[in-house]
Amino acid sequence: MINIKALVITASTRKQSNSVAATKLFIRTLKIKNAALTVKTIDINPLKIKPCTACLKCRESYACVIKDDVSKILKHLATATVVIIASPVYFMGAPAKLKALIDRSEPAWFKYSKGMKKKWKNGAIILTAEANNRSTFVGAKNEIKSFLAVNGIKTKTTVTLGTMQGENIFIQDKKAQRKIIKAAMEFAND
Ligand SMILES: Cc1cc2nc3c(=O)[nH]c(=O)nc-3n(C[C@H](O)[C@H](O)[C@H](O)COP(=O)(O)O)c2cc1C
Repeated sequence: MINIKALVITASTRKQSNSVAATKLFIRTLKIKNAALTVKTIDINPLKIKPCTACLKCRESYACVIKDDVSKILKHLATATVVIIASPVYFMGAPAKLKALIDRSEPAWFKYSKGMKKKWKNGAIILTAEANNRSTFVGAKNEIKSFLAVNGIKTKTTVTLGTMQGENIFIQDKKAQRKIIKAAMEFAND
């Protein structure tokens, strides 16, 4: 059995979060397929993530001059073998704190753009929103997908769950739960 180290990054500020509940089910399904799966979950909300100041010093150094919790997150990203990002859609994009983390990947972008990429790892994105049309998810999906890509992670699966307007909707929505289970089974099979 292959040991898989999954890193889950969650962005919702809600206590009864739909995206977090959906991600827990995704992980539970993965664990059925691979009992050797270990999971580290990071809620970005209590962490210090300052915005990128666009100093561009990272163009040469490939390192950020800002000292905060981003470096800890990046260490976990580097050691994980699978990465799952769970987020609500806020105004057609990622919530502010997640977007701040994404923008702080400018050092990784410079490395990536010079072709200094490592072996690709697999990633998944789980998004929830009130609306249920494709365009609602495009912004957040592309932002997160590019964050994963510059960090050497290929987005294998994106699960979008609409009609998640209030708290705790996901745990009552059997269709959404089936969608998550199906996506997790496919993710585990590849
Ligand atoms: C500030 C804010 C902005 C939002 N923007 C959108 C949006 O642009 N489109 C949409 O369909 N839902 C939007 N929503 C609804 C959330 O995406 C939805 O409730 C989601 O299920 C929340 O996920 P969570 O329970 O994991 O926090 C917004 C909610 C908030 C609080």
